[in-house]
Amino acid sequence: MKFVRFIMKNAALASVPKHIEHFSKFSPSPLSMKQFLDFGSINACEKTSFVFLRQELPVRLSNIMKEINLLPDRLLTTPSVQTVQSWYIQSLLEILEFLDKSPDDHKVLGEFVDTLVSIRNRHNDVVPTMAQGILEYKEAFSHDTVTNLNTEYFLDRFYMSRISIRMLINQHTLIFDGTLNPIHPTTIGCIDPHCEVGDVVQDAFHSAKMLCEQYYLRSPDLILQEMCSKKKNHPTSIVYVPSHLYHMLFELFKNAMRATIETHDDSNNLPPIKVLVSLGDEDMSIKVSDKGGGVPFRKMENLFSYMYSTAPAPQIGERTRPPLAGFGYGLPISRLYAKYFQGDLQLYSMEGHGTEAVIYLKALSTDSIERLPVYNKTALKNYKVSQEADDWCIPSKEPLDLSRFKVPK
Ligand SMILES: Nc1ncnc2c1ncn2[C@@H]1O[C@H](COP(=O)(O)OP(=O)(O)OP(=O)(O)O)[C@@H](O)[C@H]1O
Ligand SMILES: [Mg+2]
Repeated sequence: MKFVRFIMKNAALASVPKHIEHFSKFSPSPLSMKQFLDFGSINACEKTSFVFLRQELPVRLSNIMKEINLLPDRLLTTPSVQTVQSWYIQSLLEILEFLDKSPDDHKVLGEFVDTLVSIRNRHNDVVPTMAQGILEYKEAFSHDTVTNLNTEYFLDRFYMSRISIRMLINQHTLIFDGTLNPIHPTTIGCIDPHCEVGDVVQDAFHSAKMLCEQYYLRSPDLILQEMCSKKKNHPTSIVYVPSHLYHMLFELFKNAMRATIETHDDSNNLPPIKVLVSLGDEDMSIKVSDKGGGVPFRKMENLFSYMYSTAPAPQIGERTRPPLAGFGYGLPISRLYAKYFQGDLQLYSMEGHGTEAVIYLKALSTDSIERLPVYNKTALKNYKVSQEADDWCIPSKEPLDLSRFKVPK
C-alpha cells in the first residue's frame, strides 16, 4: 500500500512541469472590488466561486512558479527557496485534484474549503522563508547591481501574487464556511463595504504606540484630520479590505514613531504625527507626516528595497517581542498592498525636517481592480537584463589634473 502511494506521489510530481506549462499560458483574471462583493453578496454562489477558483488559482500559481524558475541558480537552490517551491507544487497539485469533480456535490465543496484552508496555512511563512533564502544568497555571493535589480523585480511580483492568492482564498473560505463573521457581521469576506478610514487609522496608531512604548518608554501623539469633498462632517469611508489598510498604516506609524523619537531623544516634547485623510471623486488619500528628521535624498530610492533598513537586525526567536523596525520589509510590502487595488504609496522627505508618506487608494469600488503579475515575454526580458556601461559620466573622486592641458608659452 505504501509502495502504491509512493508511486502515485512520484507520478503526480512528474506531471507538475506539464501542469505549470499549461496553466501559465493563461493570464490571471483580475477581479474588481465590485466583483468580489458580488461573489459574496446575498446571492453568493459557492458553485460558481468553486469553478472559478479551481481554474484561477492554478493559473496564478503557475504564472509565478514560472518566474521562480527564472531566479539565478544559486538562489533557486538555497534550502529556503526550495522549501517555498515545494509548498507551491504541493498546493498546485491539491487544487488540481478538484478539476474533474462535480460542483453539484456538497461533499466536494466542503473538501475544497478545507483544502484552501490548509493551503493558506502551509503558505503562512512564505515571506520570512523567502527572505531567508535571499539573505543566504546575498551573504554567500557578493551581489552585483543587476542581480539585485532582478531580485527586487521578482520579489515585488512574487509577493503581489501571494497577496492576490490569499485574497481569493480568504474570500471563498470566509464566505462559504457557513458562519458569519461575529466581529464584523457587515463585512463580506474580508472586505468592508463601509470601511471607515479614520477608525483604521486609530487602530493602527494604537498598536504602533504600544509597541513603541515597549521600546522607547514613550511615544508621539496623533492628530487626525478627515476631509471629504462631498459629504460634510461625515466619516470618510470606502469599500476596502480593512486588514490591508491597517497593515500599511501600522508600518508607516512604526517608521514615523521611530524617526520622531530618535531625532528628538534629548527633548521632553515629541512632535505629534499628523494624519490627513482626504476623499475626492477619484482618490482616497491618506497622508502621514512626521517631524522625524527625514531621509537624505540620496537614500530615498533605497527605502523601497527589500531588506534595506537602518535599524539593527532584529533577533528572531520565540520569546523575543516583535521589533519596531529592522527587517526592511515594511515599506515595500505596504506599497504592494496599496498597488494591489490600483493605488500607490509614496514617500516625500526633507532631510533635517521630516517625512510625509502618502497612501493613494481608489475612491470607487469599480476602479479598485486587482493588479496582477503576468508571466510573458516582457516579464522574461526583465530577468535577462545584463550589466551595461552607464550612459552618464561617473565623476572621478580624484581632482582633475589640469596641468596636462597647459599650453606651452
Ligand atoms: N518616516 C521616516 N523617517 C525617517 N526614515 C524613515 C521613515 N520611514 C522609513 N525610513 C527609513 O527607511 C528604512 C526602511 O523602512 P522599512 O519600514 O521598509 O524598514 P524598517 O522600518 O527598517 O524595518 P521593518 O521591516 O521592520 O519595517 C528605515 O530603516 C528608515 O531608515
Ligand atoms: Mg518599518
